[in-house]
Amino acid sequence: MDVTLSINQKKYDLSIEPRVTLLDALRERLGLVGTKKGCDHGQCGACTVLVEGQRIYSCLALAVMQQGKEITTIEGLAQDSVLHPVQQAFIEHDGFQCGYCTPGQICATVALLEEVKQGTPSAVTSNLSSEVSMNELCEAEIKERLSGNLCRCSAYNGIVAAVQQVLGQTSPSPLAEIRVSQSGLKEIDE
Ligand code: FES
Ligand code: FES
Repeated sequence: MDVTLSINQKKYDLSIEPRVTLLDALRERLGLVGTKKGCDHGQCGACTVLVEGQRIYSCLALAVMQQGKEITTIEGLAQDSVLHPVQQAFIEHDGFQCGYCTPGQICATVALLEEVKQGTPSAVTSNLSSEVSMNELCEAEIKERLSGNLCRCSAYNGIVAAVQQVLGQTSPSPLAEIRVSQSGLKEIDE
């Protein structure tokens, strides 16, 4: 099947079988290997990319269904060799170790920013009638909103600190942790 994909503001013509996933089209056909294949069945988030500004698992999306949509991968976030603020924050706060999950974490964070800007609640938003604010988004919210992205070497504290920085919070707290108590989510800052 012939399909034209718009990726990072460039057009790519492909002839592929309808069953080819977006992830395999990116990596195997187009050489855009920044997007990683972890589990290949929607459990780890390593393959997260943006389609029309929203995050998706590219291992669960068929490439042929993305025609006419703007796809952004990790390769498309930096502009004129200047890193995206989310990329810069991940570096400054040690938001990665092996880096295998990092492209997906960064794409998910870029989408998270947009979701918060639009006032989209998460599963742990307590007050659904008030606006979600960028600089007041708590760690429980950040962790919930990134819970679809796993990092096997546990750079989570650095990731949370990086997200806090790009949210405009002045005192990122990388050692903060959340424990789930019997009474629900409890946030503990160290
Ligand atoms: S590779 Fe897609 S979610 Fe794991
Ligand atoms: S940095 Fe995420 S899996 Fe290692």
